[in-house]
Amino acid sequence: MENKLSIKTIGVVGAGAMGSGIAQVAARAGYDVILRDVKDEFLQRGMAAVDKSLQRDVDKERLKDEEKRAIMGRIRNVIEMAALVEADLVVEAVTEDVNVKSEVFRQLDELTKPEAILASNTSSISITKLGAATKRPGQVIGMHFMNPVPVMKLVEIIRGIATSNETYQAVHDLTLKLEKTPLECNDMPGFVSNRVLMPMINEAIFVLYEGIATRESIDGIMKLGMNHPMGPLTLADFIGLDVCLAILNVLHDGLGDPKYRPCPLLKRYVDAGWLGRKTGRGFYEY
Ligand code: CAA
Repeated sequence: MENKLSIKTIGVVGAGAMGSGIAQVAARAGYDVILRDVKDEFLQRGMAAVDKSLQRDVDKERLKDEEKRAIMGRIRNVIEMAALVEADLVVEAVTEDVNVKSEVFRQLDELTKPEAILASNTSSISITKLGAATKRPGQVIGMHFMNPVPVMKLVEIIRGIATSNETYQAVHDLTLKLEKTPLECNDMPGFVSNRVLMPMINEAIFVLYEGIATRESIDGIMKLGMNHPMGPLTLADFIGLDVCLAILNVLHDGLGDPKYRPCPLLKRYVDAGWLGRKTGRGFYEY
C-alpha cells in the first residue's frame, strides 16, 4: 500500500536510554531527528550514549569516523516541544507513567502537523488510552523498541483500538527502514513482550524471596539451561526494577488476575531506591 505520508523527519520525546537509542537508529538510517528533553543535561547524557554506542562500531571498523559524525549531526537537540512541528512522526519515550504520557500525547496532538503519526515506545501502557488523549487516535500507535535499541532487532508494533491501517503500514515500513523487524500485536496490557517476560522475571524474584536459590543460581540456571543471554535477575536490573514494577502493576490492574501480583521483594527494592544498574544496586551491585 502506498502511504500518503512520506516520513523524513522523526521526533523523539525523551533522551533516556530508549529515546537516545531510537534517535541513534533513526539518524543512522538517514532520517533527520529532533530529540527533545526537558533539560540540556538530559540531552547531553543521551548524546553521550549515542556517541559511545557508535564508537563501538568505529572501533570495530564497521563505521567510519566521518559517518559517525554525520549520524550525530542529524540529531538536533531541543528543549522546546514546539520544534516537533517539523516531524512527520514522533516517538514518545518518556517515563512509564500513564498521566505523563497522556499529557505528552495531548501536547503533541496540538503542536505537530495534522498528518503526523504519534507513536509511543511504552512497554505496557494502553495505546488506546494514549490515542484517546488526542484528536487523531487513528494516527496513534505503539512502537516498542527493546533495550539496547541499537542491538535488538525487534520492534513490537501495537495497534490501538482506533489505529488505522494506513498508520500501521507506514510504521511497519519505517521499522524495516530502521533495519529492525516489526511484529504486530493488539493492545492489551503488556502486549506480547511483557505479558510473557514480566511473569518470568517476577517468578524469578519469588524464587529468590522464598529462599529456593541464590541470585547466581537462578540466573545461571536460566542462562545456561535455557540459553538466555542474561539471567532474569540480571535482566531485571538491566531494565530497571522501577520499570519492572510499573509493568507488573499494569498487568495486575489491567487483567485483574492475581498471578500478576508483583513480588513483595521487588516492591521493597524499589522503595529502597535499588532500581538496578542505573542506581548502582538492584539484585546485584554495580
Ligand atoms: N550499543 C551498540 N552496541 C552494543 C550495545 C550498545 N548499547 N550494547 C552491546 N552492544 C553490542 C556489542 O558491541 C557487541 O557487538 P558484536 O557482538 O557485534 O561485537 C554485542 O552487542 C554484544 O555485546 P557484548 O559482547 O558487550 O555483551 P553481551 O554479549 O553480554 O551482550 C546484550 C549484551 C546484547 C545486552 C545481551 O546481554 C542481551 O541480549 N541481553 C538481553 C537483552 C534483552 O533481553 N533486552 C530486552 C529487555 S526488555 C525491553 O527492553 C523491553 C521492555 O519493555 C522492558
